[in-house]
Amino acid sequence: MTFPIPVVSTLPAQGAVIRDVQHYMRDGTLRLSALPPLSLYVHLPWCLKKCPYCDFNSHEIMAPKTPSASAPLGGASGLGRPGTEWRGELPEQRYLDALMADLEASLPLVWGRTVHSVFIGGGTPSLFSPQSIDRLIGDIRARLRLEPDCEITLEANPGTFEKDRFKAFRSAGVTRLSIGVQSFDDAHLQALGRVHDRAQAIAAVEEAALAFDTFNLDIMYALPGQTLANLERDMHQALAFDPPHISIYHLTVEPNTFFAKYPPVLPEDDDAYAMLDRITEMTAAHGMDRYEVSAYARPGHRCAHNMNYWQFGDYLGIGAGAHSKLSFAHRVVRQVRFRDPALYMDKALAGTPVAQDNEVSRADLPFEFMLNALRLRGGFKLQDFSEKTGLPLSAIQAGLDEAERKGLIERDFVHLKPTERGFDFLNDLQALFLPQ
Ligand SMILES: C[S@@+](CC[C@H](N)C(=O)[O-])C[C@H]1O[C@@H](n2cnc3c(N)ncnc32)[C@H](O)[C@@H]1O
Ligand code: SF4
Repeated sequence: MTFPIPVVSTLPAQGAVIRDVQHYMRDGTLRLSALPPLSLYVHLPWCLKKCPYCDFNSHEIMAPKTPSASAPLGGASGLGRPGTEWRGELPEQRYLDALMADLEASLPLVWGRTVHSVFIGGGTPSLFSPQSIDRLIGDIRARLRLEPDCEITLEANPGTFEKDRFKAFRSAGVTRLSIGVQSFDDAHLQALGRVHDRAQAIAAVEEAALAFDTFNLDIMYALPGQTLANLERDMHQALAFDPPHISIYHLTVEPNTFFAKYPPVLPEDDDAYAMLDRITEMTAAHGMDRYEVSAYARPGHRCAHNMNYWQFGDYLGIGAGAHSKLSFAHRVVRQVRFRDPALYMDKALAGTPVAQDNEVSRADLPFEFMLNALRLRGGFKLQDFSEKTGLPLSAIQAGLDEAERKGLIERDFVHLKPTERGFDFLNDLQALFLPQ
């Protein structure tokens, strides 16, 4: 969870075929002088248990046979809350077959392009065995040209932690682990319905630090019942590991989640702002730079994959419900894969994984670009706007003038970035670029 995905407006009942590449290459009103960097996103859609706040395309695969929230750690399968046997099995090999069928059907749209980063996200990708991840990365390498120093991130949940498992992911070719810690406080982890506890989170981070040169911790704040002192303790614990990168998200109550139906009592807005200020102070004192709204990194450890999203680069997304954004000389196209894992596997193996395929309209492109690029503390080069959208700078001139008048951006002839005020009121700033 790292970047806003604009809503795609149409959903053809039968899905959309990946069309002949000539269809995407035909003439149009945009003029892209070069194609942006390309990333690959791979979605693995299963979790041990659905978290009550989560609206990602994640499916609870294993209902516990012996539900026992208070059991000791280290269950029969070795995964998740302990003493708990899990029903069901991941269809790992069939899903990997489907991913490769999906990738092969998509290759003509990215033919000859180099991939700069790979992100294996979920769901809980660390549920897949290291052997499966090894096969996945090998299969990708056999079909796409990856940069020699290509960042390959895998999302891991401490509830799937077993001794040496992370090392095995490293040997499989993963270069960066992103660990969904959320909190180090047992009461808050329980309130969030997490399958892991504080001890498992600590063990997982220690193992990641041994196995990986670079890794990320996902932390959430403004949790049910959380005080500023609780948050400070979480941050002290997180920073004690000297993490190269932390992503910190304000807990949001998303529609159609358990929390939306049964809302927990959350900290007041003013308290949440105070928490964010404290997070920024504590990370800065630890030599971490807040380079994006939710992302903090030590020098040299920014997430290349997420940077590409925020810089409006291209990404091919394969897997259930995955989103893609692909540029061509005269258009920018968004695709969404079938969301339900079983349906996705059937469709992908039949060569038709794509449920929606839409061209981004000229009118929507400026907002889509600004929605992403303004999240970056350092902003962007003005020429990037034209290069990535194929539109002249005049398409955002009125919004820029208004933003400058309100003190939300600063710019010269080359570069533009949000001011501190613009960063604090990012939604207001982004809204200035909504299509009229
Ligand atoms: C797609 S999840 C993948 C990580 C892994 N499944 C896990 O949760 O451990 C990525 C991150 O999004 C964040 N996230 C998910 N739902 C959220 C919500 N409703 N509000 C804020 N952050 C959320 C969490 O920090 C989570 O680690
Ligand atoms: S483990 Fe992550 S992806 Fe799975 S339900 Fe929880 S927050 Fe969502």
